[in-house]
Amino acid sequence: MLEKRFVIVGGKGGVGRTVVSVALATLLARRGRRVLLAHARSKQRIARLLGCERRFEIDEEMRKVEENLWAVNMTPEASLREKGLMVLRFKAVYRAVLENRLVRYFLRAVPALNEYAMLGKVWYHTTELGPDKRPRFDTVIFDGPAMGHLITMLRIPQVIVETVPDGPLASDAREVLGLLRDPVRTGLWVVTLAEEMPAKEAIELCAAARSDLGITPDRLVVNALYPEEADPRHAARLDALAGAPLDGELAALCASARTLGARRAINDRYLAQLARQVPLARVELPHLFVPELTRAEVDELAAIIERTLAG
Ligand SMILES: Nc1ncnc2c1ncn2[C@@H]1O[C@H](COP(=O)(O)OP(=O)(O)O)[C@@H](O)[C@H]1O
Ligand SMILES: [Mg+2]
Repeated sequence: MLEKRFVIVGGKGGVGRTVVSVALATLLARRGRRVLLAHARSKQRIARLLGCERRFEIDEEMRKVEENLWAVNMTPEASLREKGLMVLRFKAVYRAVLENRLVRYFLRAVPALNEYAMLGKVWYHTTELGPDKRPRFDTVIFDGPAMGHLITMLRIPQVIVETVPDGPLASDAREVLGLLRDPVRTGLWVVTLAEEMPAKEAIELCAAARSDLGITPDRLVVNALYPEEADPRHAARLDALAGAPLDGELAALCASARTLGARRAINDRYLAQLARQVPLARVELPHLFVPELTRAEVDELAAIIERTLAG
């Protein structure tokens, strides 16, 4: 699993795809793999998660963050320029074609094609060679768009292959499709919360990946789990205390403990549902109680992922 060339991180919006992809990237880089962490228009402060915010932000220009680790936050516009360069091979043609007003209008009218430019870019980086003629990156981690958009995006190469006449666009799409459908090179990490809507979307994403897209789901990451009750009797005792006349501070503490217990009870229900409906090896990550996640928390989550993969 750690040997894959291309890892897609998917899931419902807000479940922690960006955080998990950063943790995975740092963990692989530390183990000596050359990693490109490619975000699709992430709104998170990735530089803060990576701990490089004093040196630079992570934007559409690829930067080396640390030994073995590069990161980029792609936009369709920037990728389209690169993709254009890639497909059409040289700049004069690119200018003539992509900077043509009519063509630009057409591309804007087909938003999915814009999105596809980001997939084209990450695919390109999986094939790119370094100066030593070895692959420039051992692993490209794609922090993709939220579930619905991800599925649409991953369908595009198939649509292009079926509809566009032979040419550079179709032949690139065929390559992208070959990569996506190769379980040796490509894997999907599905991130979810143990809550109703995220779990529903995780189940849908796994099904769509398998049946529709031909992509192999590798792992289910259940993120931000509330702490388990140390002692199962606590819940009943807290319930009993709820009616008792407690002083302000103690009452507030009890209320907060009951809220945590209730959250965990929801987590347990959806953990069980996910276990029944998603037959994937699972990584469970705790909810970390800090105002904003930084590199320290990313390292903590990466260590848990590493222990789970080893165990
Ligand atoms: N394990 C966690 N504990 C606490 N907060 C988390 C955890 N994972 C993610 N978050 C927070 O949840 C929010 C959404 O995470 P993010 O990775 O941006 O989700 P996505 O990329 O899926 O939209 C962010 O504010 C992030 O800091
Ligand atoms: Mg994100």
